[in-house]
Amino acid sequence: MNELISQRLTLAEQAARAAGDKALDYFNRRESLVIETKRDAQDVVSIADREVELLIREKIAQQFPNDGFLGEEFGLQPGDSGYTWVVDPIDGTSPFVNGMPNWCVSIAVIYQGEPVIGVIVAPCQQECFVAARGAGATLNGKPLRVDPQRTMQNHVTGFGANSYVTPERVGEIAAAITAVGGNFFRNGSGAMMLAWVAAGRLVGYYEPYMHAWDCLAGYCLVNEAGGWTHPFNTDGEHLLRGGPVLAVAPGAKQDLMQIAQL
Ligand code: IPD
Ligand code: CA
Ligand code: CA
Repeated sequence: MNELISQRLTLAEQAARAAGDKALDYFNRRESLVIETKRDAQDVVSIADREVELLIREKIAQQFPNDGFLGEEFGLQPGDSGYTWVVDPIDGTSPFVNGMPNWCVSIAVIYQGEPVIGVIVAPCQQECFVAARGAGATLNGKPLRVDPQRTMQNHVTGFGANSYVTPERVGEIAAAITAVGGNFFRNGSGAMMLAWVAAGRLVGYYEPYMHAWDCLAGYCLVNEAGGWTHPFNTDGEHLLRGGPVLAVAPGAKQDLMQIAQL
């Protein structure tokens, strides 16, 4: 791993852990949070999301002031170093505000359009997933490898949807996963479910429309664990738009691609 990436990897892990601690503190006193909504009543947010993102932004700006930074809550601050941080301060805000443990901090770094670093910290599970391009993926320091024997038929598939997807399509996807002999799973945090693909807990993950901050850290993890990810366009304006997200172990790729119509 080159020095430029390894310095950023160290910082990504430190920042994600510090962010995880701050988010956990809010989680433990969540009754006092004022819950606001964004696109619709299911799309929730609170001061916790904003403060956690600000903490990460500050840490990155101190050490790499010329890097770009895209966060879900405060948008894009372009840079000129070639590296851009892509951050979801809390993925799984709905579980977070409702007292469920399925939420995480997701930090990716992209270079030349590709996620070269992915760190996902899940404070309630005390799990830290780390990957860097060419250096493998780990969970709490232990190497991760997807199992080539697992298929949609002998394992469970993660599937998520938000209000960008029609109810008909949601039903179709659930039906299609079941029709091939699979089973579907959703825990409310797409980033965490992507990390779980890298960890072999799910054979794949599909969501018709997500943003860069939801998926790029998970993509780096899955790629480094030997899985496959559907390309996510990070060119210019595309970085701010969403797209389909699919990450999968090799034995389930064909079935899941067909279901996703990709
Ligand atoms: C959401 C979660 C959810 C997924 C949505 C995302 P948020 O992110 O990852 O599982 O289905 O598409 O927007 O709002 O909790 O950061
Ligand atoms: Ca998210
Ligand atoms: Ca979020």
